[in-house]
Amino acid sequence: GKAIALIGRNGGTPIEYVEGQRRYENVAPIICIPTTAGTGSEVTRSSVITEAATRRKLTLKDAALRPVLAVLDPELTFTVPKSVTAATGVDALVHAIEGYTCKVTNPISQALGAKAMEIIVSSLPEACQDGRNEEARYNMLLGSLLAGLCFGSADVAAVHCLAEALGGLYDTPHGVANAVFLPFVLKFNAEENKAMHAQLARYMKFAAESDSDEKAVEQLIQGIETFTRSLDIPKLKDLPGVRKEDFAKIVELAMQNGSTPSNVRTVTAEDYLHILQEAYSA
Ligand SMILES: [Fe+2]
Repeated sequence: GKAIALIGRNGGTPIEYVEGQRRYENVAPIICIPTTAGTGSEVTRSSVITEAATRRKLTLKDAALRPVLAVLDPELTFTVPKSVTAATGVDALVHAIEGYTCKVTNPISQALGAKAMEIIVSSLPEACQDGRNEEARYNMLLGSLLAGLCFGSADVAAVHCLAEALGGLYDTPHGVANAVFLPFVLKFNAEENKAMHAQLARYMKFAAESDSDEKAVEQLIQGIETFTRSLDIPKLKDLPGVRKEDFAKIVELAMQNGSTPSNVRTVTAEDYLHILQEAYSA
């Protein structure tokens, strides 16, 4: 919808905007009414488009793509199936985590991310269990919006880079693709900044305030794995189409992603391959 507001008025193709051949101007006013709690697109300046020929996901990103109005109505999400609720909810959680931890993080993205993590972890299981739980559905929309503002004020990072590569190749639902990589990227990233990752565990109530950073980081990784499993999100090796033969291509696509340099720990192609292998053997 956001890309249509841009291209409908100016013509061209998404890649021409991404590569700077066309300008983001004269965009039609955008009003967003989300019907899933996940992307946070109603408050971001991004629009993600898959380029069919190359199977790459392109991100159109400009302030002009920010909607003028967002309307959150929990009733519109009552009939979202459980699997979609879970996957989109985890996407929102990853927005909060990556916006909070990435290299371009700042006090604003951290304040938004901390609140979003707390809300999402406490509300998502309820929203999955009973889709008509209005309070849980409202909280998920709120958490998703806060998470959108969080990464919109910073960036996403390695989880999204791998997830977008996977989604481009196999059409894996974006939130599922995020979920399968999240614990392994967290394990990799925590080495860079233990105190920060320990704090994430405390916001999500996987660790107590009194736990040491060391213990809290362990509980973060364990807690996230248990959380996504409790939501019945499949594992990497069980996803349709995923083949080890494509790992080099996934790594290549992830390395090309504009958010790879934003990851809190510098990530190389070898690192991506290692994370992929770990996720695949889980
Ligand atoms: Fe996302």
